[in-house]
Amino acid sequence: MTDKIQIAPSILSADFTRLAEDIRLMETAGADLLHLDVMDGHFVPNITFGPLVVEAINRMTNLFLDVHLMIQDPAQYAEAFIRAGADRLMVHIEVMDDPKPLLDQIRAHGCQAGLVLNPETPFEAVEPHLANIDCLLVMSVHPGFGGQKFKPEVLDKARRAKAMREMNGWAWPIEIDGGIDAQTAKQAVQSGVQILVAGNAIFKSKNPTEALKQIRESAELAATQTSSTRAEIRTDEGFL
Ligand code: DX5
Ligand code: ZN
Repeated sequence: MTDKIQIAPSILSADFTRLAEDIRLMETAGADLLHLDVMDGHFVPNITFGPLVVEAINRMTNLFLDVHLMIQDPAQYAEAFIRAGADRLMVHIEVMDDPKPLLDQIRAHGCQAGLVLNPETPFEAVEPHLANIDCLLVMSVHPGFGGQKFKPEVLDKARRAKAMREMNGWAWPIEIDGGIDAQTAKQAVQSGVQILVAGNAIFKSKNPTEALKQIRESAELAATQTSSTRAEIRTDEGFL
């Protein structure tokens, strides 16, 4: 459902010497999905992991795997990630002239397909493709590293996406990634976001379970307040 808040821990900030335990911890903490950051050292100045690690994670958890491809050539590797167990592939608009063939190809394999846009990429870059996606991810930091500061100026793109989604009756969720904690989660949800990716705020916290819970509580409260504000506006309009 579009309005349900989902918390997506990013394992980029997990302890890779005990990755399975960290993922189990997220399962019991109530994570809705797992966010997996794939980096190739070209599209971003960092290298992480490929299909081998996604496949291993898929064997040990039933959590939905949200695979964020920060790679120069997503078309070359999409099928390998789908075979590895990705439930959704998120591809960057910056590396594609026309994303439609790849989005269609991903979906033809029964995997969800989403578009991602960097902080400096204008909303207009994804606008023509919004009828053809399962998710829209707005980056709130420059991709490549965890632990960066949230960029509130990207929220305008979330607001525009939400408005277009409502106008067209689309159902895809809006996701945000980078610098998310309980405070920034609130701002994001007020701007129309449903899926909150969080790396450092969860895994670098002394109590990751509690950190996830706080992000969820703050986000759900903001969602309730936002929807009741909308209801009040509608009621007011009713008297006009
Ligand atoms: C950054 C990655 C993020 C990262 C977020 O390029 O795409 O998913 O893990 O980390 P935090 O939440 O620490 O900003
Ligand atoms: Zn990410």
